[in-house]
Amino acid sequence: MTATTNPALIPHPTADTSQWSGSRTHRIRGAVLESCDNKRPFAVSRPITVSDLDLAGPGPNEVLVRIEAAGVCHSDLSVVDGNRRRPTPMLLGHESAGRIVEVGEKVTDLSVGQRVVMAFLPRCGECAGCRTEGKLPCVAGTAANNAGTLLGGGSRLSRDGESVFHHLGVSGFATHATVDRRSVTPVDDDVPADVAALLGCAVLTGGGAVLNVARPAPGQTVAVVGLGGVGMAAVLTALSLDAEVVGVDAVESKLDLVRSFGVAQALTPEQATRQGLRADLVVEAAGHPRAFETAVAITAPGGVTVTVGLPGPEACSTVSPLVLTAEARTIVGSYLGSAVPRRDIPIYAQLWREGRLPVERLISARIRLEDINEAMDLLAGGSQLRQVIVFDDDRSATTAIPGLDTGASS
Ligand SMILES: NC(=O)c1ccc[n+]([C@@H]2O[C@H](COP(=O)([O-])OP(=O)(O)OC[C@H]3O[C@@H](n4cnc5c(N)ncnc54)[C@H](O)[C@@H]3O)[C@@H](O)[C@H]2O)c1
Ligand SMILES: [Zn+2]
Ligand SMILES: [Zn+2]
Repeated sequence: MTATTNPALIPHPTADTSQWSGSRTHRIRGAVLESCDNKRPFAVSRPITVSDLDLAGPGPNEVLVRIEAAGVCHSDLSVVDGNRRRPTPMLLGHESAGRIVEVGEKVTDLSVGQRVVMAFLPRCGECAGCRTEGKLPCVAGTAANNAGTLLGGGSRLSRDGESVFHHLGVSGFATHATVDRRSVTPVDDDVPADVAALLGCAVLTGGGAVLNVARPAPGQTVAVVGLGGVGMAAVLTALSLDAEVVGVDAVESKLDLVRSFGVAQALTPEQATRQGLRADLVVEAAGHPRAFETAVAITAPGGVTVTVGLPGPEACSTVSPLVLTAEARTIVGSYLGSAVPRRDIPIYAQLWREGRLPVERLISARIRLEDINEAMDLLAGGSQLRQVIVFDDDRSATTAIPGLDTGASS
């Protein structure tokens, strides 16, 4: 393998597959975003093309995964609508789970047949970020994600001879993915694929905001502003800790749903501020600057506001420095749930196993890969938690991949 180890050196904007010499090239099917800044309805503008692509097999530190389930997250939508611009064409999807069908020659901690959860930020385990127990993102992983490459450098994806970028080291809206071994965490077979997929983003992020950052003590109140997949995962995690939980969202159907989860109150942002709600710990999971202002406004004196939303880079909020000082408040950001995926995903799997974290409740629809443009419209409309793409099981077995081209490498 000749791939560079410094992702910052990866040429941009053209991903380079020529340096890659993975064992075989596979023919896969995937959902490729052609460009950013697309207009709704996406069902009409159709920014995402589902087509056949070529996927290089795993390099020494990589694994080939047959994808079983993939959740549609707002961070995918943010690339589609240009809120978070990334290089294109890009094969989207970062919240996925599947089974390993091939391992690279240096991979000793993972094996063929194992179910794995993808995390959307690989951790090299060695950089300054990786030495902060999850608080800071991995430096090399962040650079690779920004470049649209795998952690080992370059792309493994191409379409009609043209390189295609990876989304957050995963590109899970596809029948198969080649990913770095540091992007995956194994889970036991009793965790269903759709639940496993959600552990990789919604639960890792929303759950981590609660478990790793807010850390509610008995009797404390946790409010969550923004009740999509991430916010609802924060709600479920806080409920699993027996915290008193308040759900806040601008969409009525989300309030009805969060009531059914067993929260103490469900309020619109206006209701929450008008009634003077003040919660000890507040998680902002909307990704909108007004939602962040709501989250700060409803945080109690001495309390902590945890922000996980990812609005566009130009978005700004207004907060009162005086209130922060006078009320001894803390505002803290959390990326990837401040998680170390291999440390944290087994914790969520165990909570799910014990019936304390009903992750299935985050699944609002099961859809086909071909429905992806329509799914983006529904997500943008605010009606969904997680729409999960499920793949046909007759597509492949765990040890062989019928129908895949196993011929010359790219
Ligand atoms: N920090 C991370 O590592 C990380 C990981 C995943 C997602 N995210 C981000 O978290 C955010 C949530 O992701 P998601 O997939 O759950 O999104 P989503 O679209 O499913 O949910 C967002 C929710 O926020 C609500 N909302 C919007 N504006 C609001 C406002 N002003 N006040 C109250 N509620 C409001 C919407 O009605 C919706 O229910 C996004 O910005 C996403 O990019 C961050
Ligand atoms: Zn996500
Ligand atoms: Zn690192």
